[in-house]
Amino acid sequence: MAIIKPKLHHVTLKTTRLQEMIDWYGIVIGGEVTYVDPRNAWMTNDDANHRIAFLVAPGLRDDEAKTCHNGMHHSAFEYDSFDDLMTSYKRLKDEGIEPAFSLEHGLTTSLYYGDPEGNFVELQSDAFGDWALSTRFMRTSASFAANPIGYFFDPERVYRAHLAGTEFFILQAAIRREEYLPAKIPEMGLPIPEPVA
Ligand SMILES: [Fe+2]
Repeated sequence: MAIIKPKLHHVTLKTTRLQEMIDWYGIVIGGEVTYVDPRNAWMTNDDANHRIAFLVAPGLRDDEAKTCHNGMHHSAFEYDSFDDLMTSYKRLKDEGIEPAFSLEHGLTTSLYYGDPEGNFVELQSDAFGDWALSTRFMRTSASFAANPIGYFFDPERVYRAHLAGTEFFILQAAIRREEYLPAKIPEMGLPIPEPVA
């Protein structure tokens, strides 16, 4: 029997910082509260009734070992263009919110922000501006298979190059040649592998 496929709709996080989370997601993704009470909140940034939700319950606590526990690594939101991504990078920087790490994946250019409880939110733009083309890239590109995680970049330097008029594909190629590496390779919320002896 054919599978009737449901669409991905929302992410719900457990939290002890309800208002901080509401404020942060309000700034970062333009989330607006659909309903809130002291124990719950539902927010959306589009036509859906909610996209991000929060549940508060007694006994919840921070996970000090989050980076080495199973579970969600990040949620992701996509802009229509690289220019929108860069414009939003600057808006958030002016609000004092900067990416924890930034990666050029080939299919997307992505900025990863840590929310007040260390959940990452990826803000991305599709490198092709077309889901069919970026899907084909993932399925068929040898460069993707060779490095599916992609290349770290310094978002401030990339932002400035974009502002100076460097065309996206020129910039993307330079990032992939590691010409925009950050001064220090950031941690990306995963256990660090033991060095090979
Ligand atoms: Fe992602």
